[in-house]
Parts: sequence; C-alpha cells; structure tokens
Amino acid sequence: METSGIVLVAGATGGVGRRGVAALRKKGLPVRVLVRNEEKARKMLGPDVDLIVGDITKESTLVPDYFKGVRRVINAVSVIVGPKEGDTPDRQKYSQGIKFFEPEIKGDSPEKVEYIGIRNLIKAVKGSVGLQNGKLLFGFEDNNYRELAWGALDDVVMGGVSESTFQIDPNGGENGGPTGIFKGVVSTANNGGFTSIRTKNLSTAEDLSAYDGLELRLKGDSRRYKLIVRTSRDWDTVGYTAGFDTVGDQWQTVRVPFSSLKPIFRARTVSDAPPFDPSNIVSLQLMFSKFEYDGKLNPTFVEGAFKVRTRRFCRSYPT
Ligand SMILES: NC(=O)c1ccc[n+]([C@@H]2O[C@H](COP(=O)([O-])OP(=O)(O)OC[C@H]3O[C@@H](n4cnc5c(N)ncnc54)[C@H](OP(=O)(O)O)[C@@H]3O)[C@@H](O)[C@H]2O)c1
Repeated sequence: METSGIVLVAGATGGVGRRGVAALRKKGLPVRVLVRNEEKARKMLGPDVDLIVGDITKESTLVPDYFKGVRRVINAVSVIVGPKEGDTPDRQKYSQGIKFFEPEIKGDSPEKVEYIGIRNLIKAVKGSVGLQNGKLLFGFEDNNYRELAWGALDDVVMGGVSESTFQIDPNGGENGGPTGIFKGVVSTANNGGFTSIRTKNLSTAEDLSAYDGLELRLKGDSRRYKLIVRTSRDWDTVGYTAGFDTVGDQWQTVRVPFSSLKPIFRARTVSDAPPFDPSNIVSLQLMFSKFEYDGKLNPTFVEGAFKVRTRRFCRSYPT
C-alpha cells in the first residue's frame, strides 16, 4: 500500500473497524475515520482522531470535500445485528461466545446499508480516490499505456474469407500520438461476413463494479461495430454485446454503459443468461459484422475494406 494519501476506515467504531484503525496506525499510515457517533469514536480511537461524522445511508451527510486526500477506503460498516432477546447490562450475550442466540437486525436494513449506503460512499469518495478518471484497460492516455494481447478472429473459423489485423502505429493516432489500428477486408463469400479482434483472457479478471461502463476513444469509418465483453474463461461462450456507430474519419468518444450489454451467443440473444457481472471481466472483442442479433442485419455493413483506430478502452465514467 502506498504510504502517501489517507486511508479512510468507514465503520471504525465496530469490532473490525477498530482493529483496522489500530493496524494502519501501527504501520504509520495516515488514517481518517467515518463514524456516526463522534463521542463514541473519540473515546474509542483517541481524542485527536481525524474524523468525518456521517451516516452512509444519508447521502447529504457525506460531503465529498470531507474526503479530500483519501486514497484508499476500508469499509467495515455493517448492518447492526444483536440477539433477539436483547442484552442485559451485566450480560452481553454476543460476548459470551458459548451459546448461539437467535440474531435480529437492530438498525437499518441490509438494502439500506449494503446497497444504498455503499453506493453513497463510493459516490462521495470517488473524486479523491481517482475513480472519476476511470481505469485504463487498453490503450494510450497521457503518459500511460496498457497493452493487451489481441488476436484476429474472423469468419474464416466457419469457412469465410474475411481477414483482419490489429497493429500499433506509434504516430498515427490523435495529435500524432500512438494508436491501435483494427483493419481488414470483410467478405460475405461462403456465408461469412464478420471480422473481429479479441484479447486473450486477462490473467486476473478486471473488477469494474465501481464503474458504469466502458469508454472508447476511436476514429472510425461511419460503420457500426460491436463491443463484446466476456465474463467467462471459456472460449465459446456468451458475449455481453453492444453495437455502436462510428463517425467517418473523426475522433470520437463512445460510451457503452454496462446496462446496455446484451447476452449474445453466435448472434442470438440468450434469454436465460446470467446478468452481466462487471466485477469479473475476462476478455474484450471488437467486431465488424454483417449481422446484428436475432436475424437482424447491420445497416451500415458493406463488403470490402474497413478501418478503425482506437486510442483507448477505458473503464467507466462518473454517474
Ligand atoms: N466481527 C467479526 O469477527 C468479523 C469477522 C469477519 C468479517 N466481519 C465482517 O466485517 C464487517 C464489520 O463487522 P463488525 O463485527 O465490525 O460489525 P460491528 O461491530 O457491528 O460494527 C459495525 C460498524 O458499522 C457502523 N455503521 C453501521 N451502520 C452505519 C451507517 N449507516 N453509517 C456509518 N456507519 C455505520 C457502526 O457504527 P456505530 O458504532 O455508530 O453503530 C459500526 O462502527 C461485517 O461485514 C462483518 O460481516 C466481521
């Protein structure tokens, strides 16, 4: 963990949070805590503790300015549970550790804390932890570059004759910068009609659950392409797919919200596929095809040469 930047511990007055604060302090890391009860926090964590008083279920209490300087967040907030029968002043049943007492929720519901609360917390911290900029999955951005192993995947696999390549041009991109060029010749001969490039499976799946979608920066040729995202390591499997239109010979930013991805297998919608899981992104594919889905055709499709330059695939943007 980097030593500059503050680590925020949410739920620092709980059993786990308190231990987390102690461990971070022991490492000499700067800590800020998010607590509901200031008095309880100062008593437990020391009078000088750097704190934000807030309740994650109440968005208005989480003012983004309070989170300035925070680079990492440890969430130890939890739905409060306790024994159904309640504790007595002299006997804290949960601390006895001998008998199991039937628990019940004592405060806000799991939906309010774990879903709405965590969403509010992410929204409040994302500016300071850098989520606002998205994460680079592939491509060139400022001084960053991330490469992925792309390979051509054309209709040759089913007897067609289309062909494509993907190459990096160090100077052919926006403002003379580097770019990746996906180009080729597509043909409908032998019942073919598609070309694509697909990455190898990522060695570690990308967890993009804090984001809304993928953003592409590209220069196309007025044709419609498809972005396909896979969440399985299997080769021949459902691809979560969205089509997008390109403007001819002009750099543009295309946003593909995760909510717009449809589960497609061999150009057909899979109605019983599991919902798209943004926490487990395993591979990406960019396709130019005659086919849309479920028998529909791509209205912009023409046989012959095509070309799209891509500068980046970026993970999401703020909501
Ligand atoms: N305890 C364990 O042995 C253990 C082991 C493994 C994993 N875990 C997991 O670790 C997490 C924390 O457990 P825990 O035992 O530390 O729970 P806990 O002692 O009940 O602490 C919960 C913390 O969350 C805070 N909180 C609750 N609702 C909040 C809200 N709306 N806004 C801000 N803060 C809120 C509480 O603040 P207040 O002080 O104001 O109530 C408290 O600080 C849970 O997900 C649990 O499943 C626990």
